[in-house]
Amino acid sequence: MKDKDIKKINIGMIGFGYIAHGVFELISSQKEYIAKKIGKQLDIIRIAEKDPDKIKKIPGDVSSNIKISSDAADVLSDPEVDIVVELIGGIDPAFEFVSSALAAGKYVVTANKDLMANRGRDLYRIAEKNNVDILFEASVLGGIPIIGPLKTTLASDRIYKIVGIVNGTTNYILTRMEKDSLSFDQSLKAAQDMGYAEKANPSSDIEGYDAVYKLAILSSIAFNSRVTPANVYREGITRITSSDIEFAREMGYSIKLLAIGTDEDGVISARVHPSLIPGDHILASIEDVFNAVYVYGKYIDRIMSYGRGAGDRATSSSVVGDIINIARNFDRERKGIIYGCTCFENKKIRSIDNTASKFYLAMDVADRPGVLAKIASVFGRHDVSINSMIQKQTDVPDGAKLIFITHMVKNKDLYLSVEKLKKLDVVRSVNSIIRVEDLD
Ligand code: HSE
Repeated sequence: MKDKDIKKINIGMIGFGYIAHGVFELISSQKEYIAKKIGKQLDIIRIAEKDPDKIKKIPGDVSSNIKISSDAADVLSDPEVDIVVELIGGIDPAFEFVSSALAAGKYVVTANKDLMANRGRDLYRIAEKNNVDILFEASVLGGIPIIGPLKTTLASDRIYKIVGIVNGTTNYILTRMEKDSLSFDQSLKAAQDMGYAEKANPSSDIEGYDAVYKLAILSSIAFNSRVTPANVYREGITRITSSDIEFAREMGYSIKLLAIGTDEDGVISARVHPSLIPGDHILASIEDVFNAVYVYGKYIDRIMSYGRGAGDRATSSSVVGDIINIARNFDRERKGIIYGCTCFENKKIRSIDNTASKFYLAMDVADRPGVLAKIASVFGRHDVSINSMIQKQTDVPDGAKLIFITHMVKNKDLYLSVEKLKKLDVVRSVNSIIRVEDLD
């Protein structure tokens, strides 16, 4: 092998959408800078993309030496390709492409959270068998480094909690609801107009699926035990109303979609749901499409990472960071694991029923003597203890709104009490049930 070959790292890209365009631009414009920094030259030698319109977006001036095709197999079968960058998203056919690349002894870099959250274990097995690795920093929190730090600098610590705002679209919607007093529908439309939420089907973001994938990946790495999307409790933000935002504010809270993973004595809890959080907590100040995540460890106490969780420029920085990590140690003769799979334990998962939370409850009730007593009696019978309550007059004759915040209660008990409350003649409707996280 000639010296010049050893210094040149050949990249094959599968998919040339929005993020891939950013990766291409970053590698092309920073090629010399990166070469000086790491002593290796990153060369994109192949691109596979099925959509002719996307192929047209490959800048002509730098693409003359790049072989472009519509078939991923052309990238996967090229012995000159050292690193495959998969940026098509989704599980199929990405799983097939990525597993073929690993089986062929190629390193893989991907931004694909669905793939890693659902099939991470299988892909690691193939990678290990072939003595290569798969890196996926960009799959979680776009441009914010979190997977790399968890697998390196923080690897000795016992991480016991992760709490974050990991979805920019929902954070944008909730920010608009809070700052501009928009309804959920108006804010969703604003997010769609800005290109943050998908127009055809925004459910991946607003129903919390995107955050579930990210939390599954982060929890698996932080707690050394595989957490799949099926292990993560999920509630989206579609039922949050302007009144909830207003009442929460009055009680000193802000509403955020949180992803929370904990490891309590070897039992993992992972959940994504809207939460009331103290208005003066740092997470309450994370606005618009920004993301932030706290990591708590026995040694570090806590760290917080904040930044852009999406966008082509920020995300491509993470993709290229992974490529650089591989390139720094790259040797065609002797392959090796960069980080590898760190899920060496098999911890139990706590069900949401047995998880304890504080709750915010908003209900419409009859406004007459004895109503509170009846409600309090139902709460009391189910171990639900009230922390605070406010009452609001409504336009409905003889009606009032009651807003409660409870002390810690098992989810199962809270929901049982709500079922009983709905049967009381004095309760007209239970409008909102949202968890409250005091955060530290
Ligand atoms: N749709 C995601 C978000 C970005 O809104 O945060 C990609 O994961």
